[in-house]
Amino acid sequence: MKITFYGQNSLHIEMAGQNILVDPFISGNPLSKDHININDLKADYILVTHAHQDHTLDVEAIAKNTDAVIVSNYEIAMHYQEKGFSVHPMNHGGSWQFDFGKLKYVNAIHTSTFPDGSDGGIPGGFVIEGEHKNIYIAGDTALTMDMKLIPLWTKLDLAILPIGDNFTMGIDDAILASDFVDCDKVLGVHYDTFGYIEIDSAEAKKKFYDAGKDLMLLEIGASLEL
Ligand code: NI
Ligand code: MN
Repeated sequence: MKITFYGQNSLHIEMAGQNILVDPFISGNPLSKDHININDLKADYILVTHAHQDHTLDVEAIAKNTDAVIVSNYEIAMHYQEKGFSVHPMNHGGSWQFDFGKLKYVNAIHTSTFPDGSDGGIPGGFVIEGEHKNIYIAGDTALTMDMKLIPLWTKLDLAILPIGDNFTMGIDDAILASDFVDCDKVLGVHYDTFGYIEIDSAEAKKKFYDAGKDLMLLEIGASLEL
């Protein structure tokens, strides 16, 4: 499995020969827009955690280019289906066996309204069980006790957690989240994009290190192999 970071919560995951994009927000991200061209991106699936603009801005353009299937909660899926896109609607607690792996839509504590005010349902995260590795994409969320359910279902190899604070959990809560999901290997996302979520990366890494954990922070366009 290869995971590439495009800024904020935007990720490209290569898994079982499939191309999965998560929360594409690139053309409007000051950190990404000059480095990544959305017309170059491959996608068989686009996973959307919630409807906020910093997670959905490029969904339609990329889905038009690629015919990707948009996977999200029921309300977000219907929003895109009405516009003619291919979708797979889910809801919290439900799993589906896709050709790339088994995906579960799990709880997040956040909000989820589209920029035009339409209903984006209730936000979520994704647990993906691949052929060899399992990952958790928390999406935008507070630290929540529900994270303790995840290790009852799945032994994670990587937790992708927001760390920017203000709109989501920050570093200290992300360390607790890493305990809750029983995974010491964390990829930090949702930081530095705007003034509200700027972090001190060295301090963040040190805090994780002191807690016996590994916080990975990727440059825009950089990848990690699992
Ligand atoms: Ni959000
Ligand atoms: Mn966000």
